[in-house]
Amino acid sequence: MSMIKTTGVCKTFHGSQGRGPLEVLKNISLTVEQREVVCIIGPSGAGKSTYLRALNHLETIDEGQIFIEDKLLFDCHHGINKVKMHHDERGKALLEVGMVFQRFNLFPHKTTIENVMLAPMHVRKLSLEEARERSKQILERVGLGDKIDAYPAQLSGGQQQRVAIARALAMEPRIMLFDEPTSALDPELVGEVLAVMKQLAGQGMTMLVVTHEMGFAKEVADRVVFMFEGAILETNSPEVMFNKPENDRTRQFLQSVL
Ligand SMILES: Nc1ncnc2c1ncn2[C@@H]1O[C@H](COP(=O)(O)OP(=O)(O)OP(=O)(O)O)[C@@H](O)[C@H]1O
Ligand SMILES: [Mg+2]
Repeated sequence: MSMIKTTGVCKTFHGSQGRGPLEVLKNISLTVEQREVVCIIGPSGAGKSTYLRALNHLETIDEGQIFIEDKLLFDCHHGINKVKMHHDERGKALLEVGMVFQRFNLFPHKTTIENVMLAPMHVRKLSLEEARERSKQILERVGLGDKIDAYPAQLSGGQQQRVAIARALAMEPRIMLFDEPTSALDPELVGEVLAVMKQLAGQGMTMLVVTHEMGFAKEVADRVVFMFEGAILETNSPEVMFNKPENDRTRQFLQSVL
């Protein structure tokens, strides 16, 4: 079973105020297998975030198919989804996909554990006790067992991002999407977040990670995907991607960032 599969995904943003249409995703086909860690790299504006957001239905697509755990959720032509499925059924399938963003967006007036408990209670309908117990365990897993009653403002950026990861994990997703989870952090805080992600990968979580952390991609990814101007130009093992990339654009990009 593939955890994520997309075929021929296309997306155009129609510019406002005189700007022309912008084709941000051009025929994106990508499969992520169970327990695989796939890193997406590429320059700003390549369409990386748009692609991740499309997988989670935070963004619509014009063309192409999206399967989650082999279930076809979207089969779009001219922006119309041909898959007839009840809203709840699609929502349930999408609950298998957790997402962590660059900005953590924790509720400032709720404590660490309350931030983590909210969705399991309201969406998964766990009791208060169950949600609290589960959240506590997960916060311990991300190294925040001693911060459960702190408010976000009392935490470092790295700790806040680990709360955001815990919040996603509390929904027990089978796939985790990360969109540059460390790029808003001070350099000294990046390592602790990458360590949690590495641990998660080691536990067999299926992960699709947009990152500028080439060291992480080298060490943890099974495959690395290079996106450029809305297209996937190269998919390779980290060894090949970072030592002898096949595409000239990949080589230029890596020279500029390494
Ligand atoms: N809602 C929107 N409306 C119009 N254009 C958009 C919208 N969202 C993104 N874009 C444009 O689509 C292109 C791709 O954006 P996207 O955020 O997916 O890039 P990215 O690869 O994630 O870049 P970065 O590395 O800077 O995060 C960019 O040119 C961006 O300006
Ligand atoms: Mg982005």
